[in-house]
Amino acid sequence: MAFPSLLSQSLNFIILVIFLPLFFTSVASHSQCKSPPIIFNFGDSNSDTGGLAAGLGFPVNLPNGRLFFRQSTGRLSDGRLLIDFLCQSLNASFLSPYMDSLGGSRFTNGVNFAVVGSSTLPKYVPFSLNIQIMQFLHFKARALELVAAGSRNMINDEGFRNAVYMIDIGQNDVADSFSKKLSNVQVIKRIPSIIREIEIAVKTLYDQGGRKFWIHNTGPLGCLPQKLALVQKKDLDPHGCISSYNSAAKLFNEGLRRSCQRMRSQLTGATIVYVDMYSVKYDLIANSSKYGFSNPLMACCGFGGAPYNYNIKVTCGQPGYQVCDEGSKFLSWDGIHYTEAANAVIASKVLSTAYSSPRALFDFFCRN
Ligand SMILES: *[C@@H]1O[C@H](CO)[C@@H](O)[C@H](O)[C@H]1NC(C)=O
Ligand SMILES: *[C@@H]1O[C@H](CO)[C@@H](O)[C@H](O)[C@H]1NC(C)=O
Repeated sequence: MAFPSLLSQSLNFIILVIFLPLFFTSVASHSQCKSPPIIFNFGDSNSDTGGLAAGLGFPVNLPNGRLFFRQSTGRLSDGRLLIDFLCQSLNASFLSPYMDSLGGSRFTNGVNFAVVGSSTLPKYVPFSLNIQIMQFLHFKARALELVAAGSRNMINDEGFRNAVYMIDIGQNDVADSFSKKLSNVQVIKRIPSIIREIEIAVKTLYDQGGRKFWIHNTGPLGCLPQKLALVQKKDLDPHGCISSYNSAAKLFNEGLRRSCQRMRSQLTGATIVYVDMYSVKYDLIANSSKYGFSNPLMACCGFGGAPYNYNIKVTCGQPGYQVCDEGSKFLSWDGIHYTEAANAVIASKVLSTAYSSPRALFDFFCRN
C-alpha cells in the first residue's frame, strides 16, 4: 500500500507549496493595521536584528543575510527572523537595534534591545535582561525629554503606554547551565531564578505604564545541531534530540507559563500573551518533511558535514565554513539559529494563535 501514502505525501507537499504563501498574504492583509503598534523587544540572538554587531563591533559576516538582505545585517540567519515576520505581519518596519548609532537611528516604531548571547543571569553583565531593561529606562527618559523639547520623531508617553513589550530570553541560561557541566538537578534548581528575572523585567515595564506583553518560551534546545555535535554522551529521543536538554527547556517553559498566569492576576489591566515556541519548533523538527525540510538536525552553514555539520572551531561565516546551496531545505542555519525558511513557517504558526495563551491575534496590538 505504498501508493496512498505516497499520494498523501505529495498532496501534503502541494498543499504546503500552494497554500503557505496564500496563508502569509492573508495573514498580512487581514491585519487592518493602519497604525502598527510600537514594539520594544528584549532578548537574545533569536531576535537580535543587529545589536551585537552594532554594540560590540562583533563581525557577523556573509553568508549570514545572503537570502533576504543580500548582505549581513547582524542577524544570525540567512534572512529574516521571527521578529521580522511578526513586524511585517503588521506592516510595521523592522526594528532597529538600540545600539545602532548610524543610519539615522529610526526608533519611531520601537526599539530592539536583544543581543546575541544574552541571558537573564548573571545580572549587570552586558547585555543581560536587566541591562536591556536599564537601557530601555534610559531610552524612555531621554525620549520623553526630547518630546518635551519639541521633538516629533520620538516616542511619546502614550506611545510607551500603548506599546507591545516582547521578551524572548532564557535559552542561553538553560544552555549555559549544561555547558558549565552542572548536573541535571543543578540545572533544574536554577530555573526559578531565571524566571524571576523575567518577572522582574515585566513588572518593571508594567510600573512604567506598559500593559501589553508578548512572551516567548524557549525552543527545544536538545535539537540544536550545535548541542548534538558538542555533547559527548547523548540520551537521544525518538526524533534524535537530546532528552535531558529538552526536559530542562520544558521545565523552564512550564515555570514561565505559570509565572505568566500569576502575573496576569497580579498586574491589573495587563495583557500577557505566552507563546509556546517549544511546540512550534518541535513540531517542525518532528514533522520536518511535512513542512518541506529534509535535514532537521543538520546545519546548512558550518563545517564537518553530516550528521550535524557543526564544528565549534569553524562556525558559519568564519574562515573555512561550508554552506549548503538550498537553505530552504534546512531548518537550522548555523547549528543554533533557524533559516529564514524555517522562521517563515514558525511565524505562520505563531500568528495562527494556536500556540498562544490567551489566543490573542498579534494584530490585537494595533492602535487603530
Ligand atoms: C502598509 O504600509 C505601506 C507603506 O507604509 C502603506 O502604503 C500601506 O497602506 C500599508 N498597508 C496597510 C494594510 O496598512
Ligand atoms: C507531528 O504532526 C502530527 C500530525 O499533524 C501531530 O499530531 C504531532 O503532534 C506532530 N508532532 C509534534 C512533535 O508536534
